[in-house]
Amino acid sequence: MVSKPGEVREGVEVFSRARLAVLASGAGSNLRALIEASRASDYPAEVVSVTTDRPGVGALDIADEEGIVSRTCVLGDYPDRAAWDEDLARILAEDRPDLVVSAGFLKLLGPAVLGEFPGRIINTHNSLLPAFPGIHGPRDALEYGVKIAGATVFVVDPGEDTGVILSQVAVPVEDDDNEESLLNRIQVAERVQLVDTIGVMFRQGWTVRGRRAYFGSALSK
Ligand code: GAR
Repeated sequence: MVSKPGEVREGVEVFSRARLAVLASGAGSNLRALIEASRASDYPAEVVSVTTDRPGVGALDIADEEGIVSRTCVLGDYPDRAAWDEDLARILAEDRPDLVVSAGFLKLLGPAVLGEFPGRIINTHNSLLPAFPGIHGPRDALEYGVKIAGATVFVVDPGEDTGVILSQVAVPVEDDDNEESLLNRIQVAERVQLVDTIGVMFRQGWTVRGRRAYFGSALSK
């Protein structure tokens, strides 16, 4: 289970088996996709912990079934948001993650968590950012009338869904779509994208320059 620190090859850090700490608030379908991907011995990452911001959610059931460390960190149990943020940073640091993966975690992360893992927190969002940030991406896309929807994986920064984009996937909007059917189509593509993006990150390494992310050694030549 213990991953080695990243080996530096051609200027980028490459990991043999990276440790993923997953943050979730809901059903955990992205979490499940990551766990299933990591059953393959050549997948370069594995989920070592699951942290939610609410009790009784599907992501916790998945963690239990899989024997993965899980815990709940409820904002309302702390005197203020800063105390919650600091405790969340402390808890996550215990997992020694190579990457924190926000997979449907419906709270903004604060400065303590961001500072603990600089550039090492990613999020998956169910719209083609920068369009339709927030927690109702597919509904907002449908109401706007777009013909192409999709999902985005990005590096988390202090803003709401504003970080550097790592990957995007597009799906069509059909004439008879409602919010549920569009969300389902997006989520099928989103799960594959999240698994593939993390796979590429830890097989090839990644670099961020300004607003742009690059994989592999393209920039070191
Ligand atoms: C995902 O579709 C993700 O894009 C969305 O929550 C869903 C979680 O599903 N996240 C956001 O809207 C964050 N802004 P899951 O719990 O089944 O993985």
